[in-house]
Amino acid sequence: MEGRGYSDGMVNMGALASSFQSIGADYDRYRPSFPVETLDLLAPEVVENALDLGAGTGKFTELLVRRAHHVVAVEPSQAMLAVLTDKLPRVSTHLAAAEAIPVATASQDLVTVAQAFHWFDRESACAEISRVLRPGGRLALLWNNPDPACPWDRAAYHVAHPGLSLTEDEDGRPRRESLPNLESVSAEAIRWEEQISRQDYLRRWLTVSSFLVAKPSVRAEMVSRIARILDEDPASAGREQLVLPHVTEVLLYRKPGASPSHPRDVVKDVEASWTGSHNSTAART
Ligand SMILES: C[S@@+](CC[C@H](N)C(=O)[O-])C[C@H]1O[C@@H](n2cnc3c(N)ncnc32)[C@H](O)[C@@H]1O
Repeated sequence: MEGRGYSDGMVNMGALASSFQSIGADYDRYRPSFPVETLDLLAPEVVENALDLGAGTGKFTELLVRRAHHVVAVEPSQAMLAVLTDKLPRVSTHLAAAEAIPVATASQDLVTVAQAFHWFDRESACAEISRVLRPGGRLALLWNNPDPACPWDRAAYHVAHPGLSLTEDEDGRPRRESLPNLESVSAEAIRWEEQISRQDYLRRWLTVSSFLVAKPSVRAEMVSRIARILDEDPASAGREQLVLPHVTEVLLYRKPGASPSHPRDVVKDVEASWTGSHNSTAART
């Protein structure tokens, strides 16, 4: 499952959450990056310590290193974490889950969760996030959501997530949600577009949890259904290159308490010493 509010009681959430144990390189290759503009929402100034929770292969971590002097990645899948370590060798890593974060109390200025918060046990994860944040520290939740206005992507989404509603008239505006121990600060959406080949679009679906847990025959049928959608929709039919719109949702929270008194750097990225390159692979408008 991707996205929020998945309430289909028939779905085994534990199995879906664990599906990322079996994937690493393909996830990193085919999944979208996040728009760089998210950084200005969640870390307009460089922070000292940031933690990326459910970091996966580091698709968001590679942006986060621009705005934090020290970054820790916490992720329960060894396969995902191995890719992150290859890409970002200077990021500290912990093979661990959101419900028991192995870092010190009040040690983090910022916690980020990209495309993963829906997998967490909300109560215990929020208690842990609140514990590791310093007073005044921030939590940012991010999701790359489909743009409901794109008919073929909307139809493909229904193949992957039959229990989720996504209708054309949804405005894609993010909804604020209250979380235990944290104050809601803002809810924003960033619209962007990505150029993607038809083949990579189909391969991307194979990295989604409902495909990962499906039996091979069911998985093949799901891919065939999405291929048919692309063949039949006038906006995608016959095209080898697709323009895929995304709506990236950024929900920002704050741990109650004082802000730090020490001065912060002005808005600028940390020197690109983490990887040598931070280019997003996604084309954006
Ligand atoms: C869709 S991936 C997102 C990965 C990465 N943040 C990104 O944006 O590409 C979801 C990630 O959440 C991780 N995950 C699942 N349950 C988790 C939990 N309880 N605590 C921390 N991470 C979890 C999975 O292993 C997986 O790497």
